[in-house]
Amino acid sequence: MRQLIDQLEQQRRLTKEEWVTLIAERKDAEYLFERARAVRQKYYGNAVYTRGLIEFTNYCKNNCHYCGIRRENATAVRYRLSMEEIMDCCKQGYDLGFRTFVLQGGEDAFFTDERIIEILTKIKSVYKDCAITLSIGEKTKESYRRFFDAGADRYLLRHETADKAHYESLHPTEMSFEARKECLWNLKEIGYQVGCGFMVGSPGQKAEYLAEDMLFITELQPQMVGIGPFVPHHATPFAKEAGGTVEQTLYMLGLLRLLKPNLLLPATTALGTIDQKGREKGILAGANVVMPNLSPTTVRKKYELYDNKICTGDEAAECRNCLSNRMQSIGYELVIDRGDPKEF
Ligand code: 5AD
Ligand code: FES
Repeated sequence: MRQLIDQLEQQRRLTKEEWVTLIAERKDAEYLFERARAVRQKYYGNAVYTRGLIEFTNYCKNNCHYCGIRRENATAVRYRLSMEEIMDCCKQGYDLGFRTFVLQGGEDAFFTDERIIEILTKIKSVYKDCAITLSIGEKTKESYRRFFDAGADRYLLRHETADKAHYESLHPTEMSFEARKECLWNLKEIGYQVGCGFMVGSPGQKAEYLAEDMLFITELQPQMVGIGPFVPHHATPFAKEAGGTVEQTLYMLGLLRLLKPNLLLPATTALGTIDQKGREKGILAGANVVMPNLSPTTVRKKYELYDNKICTGDEAAECRNCLSNRMQSIGYELVIDRGDPKEF
């Protein structure tokens, strides 16, 4: 496997067969992580970037089979943050050292383009030195352009899986992989820093599909890739499915780092949820970003995409400190920085 790992580091692309071999056999993980750390070190040193996550609505018109805030989950307690509450999150976040705010929410019709633009404009007028990331799902190209013009710098939209049949098995028929891909290409064209991503160990996933994810990422060349283990949620059709593993997630993080050395790659909350030291392990496998929550603790538990999500009772300041200590314990440092990608 070392030979394939070296080849990936040098050429930054592999054939589908090579990807499948690496991913299915998952050998020489320690060697992979060593190379991933070396490559990350070259671009980012021991800095770990932070993003303050503001989960501003858990209303969602979609019904993805895996997701706890899906439309048909009648047990979900729905909420929306007001403009004032969002600005409070930013204020707290800014004082704690966050220079990127991620506005994430379900696909909620209440938040019209006008309302989103109002929020963007307001945040940008107060926090000129901060980046804003939007993560509010599939929109028209026109809407994406208007958000961009209003100050959104980045957009996260996980592709979830690059295999069409697999995509269809994870989503209801009204959603399509073609539509998802088109959104990502539109976002790139407009000039956003774009993040795609997928769940590791989602129901029905095979090494072949993960290989397709890597090929899709090679083609799209996103600035960010968000990956985390699938974690079942009790009130979804996938309640009884097995979750993804730490080992598989870490291996994919290492491969992603070698595929794209300057990638912004978070050690996700989902990874921290299935393993006490998940985020530390993620950083040591090649990740360089963490995304703690800035949402008010009163709503934290309600943004429940999967069971047992961590940090739902902790104040933003506690999380910042906790993460700072965790990163220090493994020789890394949380920095106060927008955290833009380093160019080659
Ligand atoms: N387990 C892990 N990740 C999930 N997401 C949604 N539901 C789950 C789950 N049960 C991820 C999806 C989505 C992101 C916001 O959260 O990949 O894009
Ligand atoms: Fe939230 Fe540790 S990061 S308590």
